[in-house]
Amino acid sequence: MSRLGFGIAFGLAGLASPVLGWTAEETFYPATLNDTAYISNSSIGTYGGIYQAATTGPTGGSPYGTYDYCSMPHPRVQEYELPEALSKGHVLGKLVYLEYLQRHQRRSPYNILPGGENEAYDCDNVRPYLYAGADTSSGIQPIPMYAQTYQDPTNPFTPGVNGSCQYPQITIGGVQDGFQHGKDLWSVYGEKLGLIPKQPNDRTWFRSSESALTQGSAGAVLRGVWPFYQGALPLHQMVSSVDTVNEGYSCSAISSTLSALESTSEWNDHLAVTEELRSTLGSMLGATSSSWQDTFDHFSDNFQARLCNGYELPCSLTNSSNCVTMEMAEEVFRAGDWEWNYYWRTNPDVVKYIQVVEGLFIGEIVARLQAVLDGKSSLDYTHIFIHDGDIGPVLGALGIDALRWPAMASNIAFEVWETNDQSNRYYARVLYSGWALKTIHGTLDWLPLADLIDIMSPYVPEDIVSLCG
Ligand SMILES: *[C@@H]1O[C@H](CO)[C@@H](O)[C@H](O)[C@H]1NC(C)=O
Ligand SMILES: *[C@@H]1O[C@H](CO)[C@@H](O)[C@H](O)[C@H]1NC(C)=O
Ligand SMILES: *[C@@H]1O[C@H](CO)[C@@H](O)[C@H](O)[C@H]1NC(C)=O
Ligand SMILES: *[C@@H]1O[C@H](CO)[C@@H](O)[C@H](O)[C@H]1NC(C)=O
Repeated sequence: MSRLGFGIAFGLAGLASPVLGWTAEETFYPATLNDTAYISNSSIGTYGGIYQAATTGPTGGSPYGTYDYCSMPHPRVQEYELPEALSKGHVLGKLVYLEYLQRHQRRSPYNILPGGENEAYDCDNVRPYLYAGADTSSGIQPIPMYAQTYQDPTNPFTPGVNGSCQYPQITIGGVQDGFQHGKDLWSVYGEKLGLIPKQPNDRTWFRSSESALTQGSAGAVLRGVWPFYQGALPLHQMVSSVDTVNEGYSCSAISSTLSALESTSEWNDHLAVTEELRSTLGSMLGATSSSWQDTFDHFSDNFQARLCNGYELPCSLTNSSNCVTMEMAEEVFRAGDWEWNYYWRTNPDVVKYIQVVEGLFIGEIVARLQAVLDGKSSLDYTHIFIHDGDIGPVLGALGIDALRWPAMASNIAFEVWETNDQSNRYYARVLYSGWALKTIHGTLDWLPLADLIDIMSPYVPEDIVSLCG
């Protein structure tokens, strides 16, 4: 694969994190992540990652570009650099296509502790809008209604948590981070590179999952891109029963592959090294059921949502001095990172697992990139609002060197550049949360677009229906 340069998008590569000696970029790629000793070695801490944010935003790690669970970095004009092939003048070129994928912004948790939460969650500072109207300006224009969550004392069923949130729901910090995210994208891809138009038009295209989280994020982020745009925009969604993101369509091979990969000796090792931790948390928080004990998904989600929205780690409801410590939380986060790397990079069935979970969506991206390569694209800028469970397999298909849990607002920018290179007119660059992605194929900072398509194509199933069984 030809390489014209080794430029990176961030200019911060030399800035080491002051205490631990990892550069901001290195915090994305823990060298020993594929080893269960990574989980049990407490001196690793968070591997330089950030897991705390105030209730309000916008937040951004320091130094900018560090892995930040609460708000992953994104391309910003302060750090953005042109591909070296262009900045060094090896070729002339301009950006002609941007496919931008992002996880939703920060939110309240999916998973409420079975023993109950010792702290209430407050969402009165954010308005999740939901209203329907006619498709013409002369038709019915609705009142902008928003969801107001409340509890009625006569309801005998208690949710195990007090407050004014739904679980999950976007938080005010998530809205504020999203707005900043959009403003920064505008300054790079609108103002600097001239790709994003001044107004949305028929060469811009937006999509989300069926989830209110991704829809709420779209409104905030795109308001940052176009602060003065008046009017509504279509946010494309597939029928949720067949959606190709967020595990929409049903496919029994997804669960059978998952149970196979959760029966290997590597998987069991990771449970063995965390036995004491899981047992301590289980009895402290009433979380002894298999859904809390069999993976680190629920503990991670619960702790991340608290820490990323200005709350403390939880305590036992029956003993308020029996609390989750930061050291326990860090081990939970390391175990979560190990699981994500295992699901999407190192498990023995990884190709099939990516194909069944995400292959159709990867195929849609490949088709749009192919249209650009063929000079037939009808789009310049697509922005798709999805979930960690979509970002992870796409990064796996790209061959990321090591995969930590794709955090809040983690993003992948597929840039396509049209050049005057006679042998390869179109080049691609893939940025993951602002950094040129490091993969088993090399750093994806400048490669012929056809080569990028070749990297992704093996993950696009020829016949998903028969593969799903
Ligand atoms: C990950 O670790 C397992 C078990 O030690 C090993 O078999 C596998 O080759 C490793 N994979 C990678 C990509 O390093
Ligand atoms: C634990 O991690 C530290 C820091 O990365 C490393 O120096 C040390 O060798 C590790 N210890 C073990 C037992 O793996
Ligand atoms: C919620 O608040 C009510 C009223 O203050 C209180 O009785 C109840 O214990 C609280 N529930 C939780 C799970 O904290
Ligand atoms: C409450 O938790 C603390 C901290 O774990 C412990 O030291 C104490 O003995 C516990 N109290 C009771 C009554 O169990």
